[in-house]
Amino acid sequence: MRKNNICRVTGYPLTEIINFGSQPLGNGFVSSANPEEEYFFPMVAGFAEDSMMFQLINQPEPKKMFHENYAFFSSTSMHMRNHFKTFADHVIDSGYMSEADPFVVELGCNDGIMLKHFSEKGIRHLGVEPSLNVAKEANKVGVKTISEFFSEDLADEVARNHGQADIFFAANVMCHIPDILGVAKGIKKLLKPSGVVMFEDPYLGDIIKKTSYDQLYDEHVFLFSALSVQYLFGTQDMELIDLHPQSTHGGSMRYTLAHKGAYEANDSVAQIIETELKQGLDRQEIFQVFKKNVETSRENLVELLTKLKAEGKRVVGYAATSKSTTILNYCNIGPDLIEYICDTTPIKQGTFSPGMHIPIVPHKMFADNPPDYAVLFAWNHAEEIMAKEQSYMQNGGKWILHVPEVRVL
Ligand code: TYD
Repeated sequence: MRKNNICRVTGYPLTEIINFGSQPLGNGFVSSANPEEEYFFPMVAGFAEDSMMFQLINQPEPKKMFHENYAFFSSTSMHMRNHFKTFADHVIDSGYMSEADPFVVELGCNDGIMLKHFSEKGIRHLGVEPSLNVAKEANKVGVKTISEFFSEDLADEVARNHGQADIFFAANVMCHIPDILGVAKGIKKLLKPSGVVMFEDPYLGDIIKKTSYDQLYDEHVFLFSALSVQYLFGTQDMELIDLHPQSTHGGSMRYTLAHKGAYEANDSVAQIIETELKQGLDRQEIFQVFKKNVETSRENLVELLTKLKAEGKRVVGYAATSKSTTILNYCNIGPDLIEYICDTTPIKQGTFSPGMHIPIVPHKMFADNPPDYAVLFAWNHAEEIMAKEQSYMQNGGKWILHVPEVRVL
């Protein structure tokens, strides 16, 4: 565990912003309501004005989080399956791929949800996925995947074995990597002179606006803005050439970067950077406002759940997301306030939520015996979920949302 409040990119001191207390792993589901051992770490977020990086000060060892039992399978959401098909089409049609024998690399390809669209077209590809169980799923669907952590050394090895890449992409992965500078160095080496890197992650501008502090958990060591991404890759003589806001994960950004001078930047880059400067994402003050909003959100959620319990209402959680781990532990919400959390992921069912030990049950339990209220922990999938839960709502079932503010729907 690191001891100093040091920016992971520059090595200079950063300012502590929010202390979330002791937190378990976001995906650290446990097999008993009274586990003998459970891992916790001090979760504190800080901001570095030099690099403009909002980041966790401490983070568990990556091997504790991404391993042979990683519980997150990207293909469980229909919306995400559609999203990755569109992202793949965008990459294929982007004009950045050479005509003769292009080669693409995806970092954190999970179960192959995106790369399979390349393998189906016979495009040379390689997935780099540290979690062995999901990497095996990717290989099963025909996606060539190695189970490794990406680093400068691995970039050299991939370039030696396969040649340099036309496109390097990643979705919801870059923000997981503590040695992000090492990854940027690896990307710089792996890309052809005409190559580009495209990646998307939850977007700091949206998180600040929506007080969606649940995007901070052990795996999300950084929450990026265009300013911080520009800074990071600037150290490697690379630059942003395109920015494309996305609706996934409650608001994400797709960043496209290339070697300096290789392409002209699209207008979106100057526009979004200007908006971020207006929002104040380059300065500490906005993060102090965020901290106050997070505290208010916690007070309002606990007050609402306590009131519903006093009225004898049944309240459950809907979707055992990693995000919910931060909310439940930071707000100290346990099985006394939330009876169970239903989730469609088979390996989560029958377990207990990290830290607060709320039972995780199959969706059938929610369908067969609907509660009065359900806290929508997968608020980022609200449209998809509300569309399929029409009968819950028609029978008087209500939703509790905490983003952008705590409210009942
Ligand atoms: P996601 O927001 O991607 O989670 P995370 O915070 O971990 O990134 O949501 C995925 C989780 O939500 C996964 O455990 C499956 C669950 N889920 C349901 O149970 N039902 C649903 O209809 C959807 C869309 C997700």
